[in-house]
Amino acid sequence: MGGELRRPLLTRLQLLREMGLSPLWRLRPQAAGVAQPLVGGTAAGSEAEPGSPGEPAAAAAGVPVPAAGGERNVEIAGMGWEELRQSAAICRACNLCQGRRQAVLGVGDLKADWLFIGEGPGAEEDARGEPFVGPAGKLLDAMLAAIDLQRGDDVYIANAVKCRPPGNRTPESSEIAACAPYLRRQIALLQPRLIVLLGRAAAHAVLGEVGSLANMRGRSFAYRSPAGGEDIPVIVSYHPAYLLRTLHDKARAWEDLCRARALMRAAKGTATGRDRAAGPDAAPTP
Ligand code: URA
Repeated sequence: MGGELRRPLLTRLQLLREMGLSPLWRLRPQAAGVAQPLVGGTAAGSEAEPGSPGEPAAAAAGVPVPAAGGERNVEIAGMGWEELRQSAAICRACNLCQGRRQAVLGVGDLKADWLFIGEGPGAEEDARGEPFVGPAGKLLDAMLAAIDLQRGDDVYIANAVKCRPPGNRTPESSEIAACAPYLRRQIALLQPRLIVLLGRAAAHAVLGEVGSLANMRGRSFAYRSPAGGEDIPVIVSYHPAYLLRTLHDKARAWEDLCRARALMRAAKGTATGRDRAAGPDAAPTP
């Protein structure tokens, strides 16, 4: 497991520039209201589009359970971190195992409050055994730094699937489902205070099929663990690889990060007036 601290090499302003967000963005004053504590996958946000799918049921459903392999699910649900890593390393539950160099379980602080979930390892991740170490990872690091976070320090990073899809294609539903017991166990072991889903595959993995990314962004969901415990707030945002290609959506990603930070501060009871303004309805202004 990684987790060593890395000193930021760039100033905050430089990081925001890296994200395509300079000059510094400031939160527009908004009606106060930190996101309400989430109950059972309610969606509460400013950008829920009319006619969006019935979010509560789907959002509360948790990571999809593969149709078969009940015994495997039970086994994985009882594993600790090391067993999980060893199990993923030899997993043959789907065809992705055929092309992998190694399974990439995740990296970071095992007591992290923040859990970021991406899609699946790419070539560099497959080679190095750590998520988000390629170009998308550099952007993710810049995004983290923009909200005063760094990988390994109160942050854990995982993927919907642990093995590299060939040609970096999007993982299929069956592959996401086959890997779901690992993700579910990671969440149960970590018990983060907030989950940030990066892209549609991650949203699919954690929330089930709940619509397009545009529909999910800006709304608040909750992850309800099948093992019980408190619901965990979930935010959906863009995948960094998408942001590298679609620069104009970086501003929206920044909005999402501000919401995430406001939610986290609310969860920790350290919200500031600015965070309250950055509740679900907050939007940054240049
Ligand atoms: N993209 C992802 O979704 N995950 C990684 O680990 C790397 C790139």
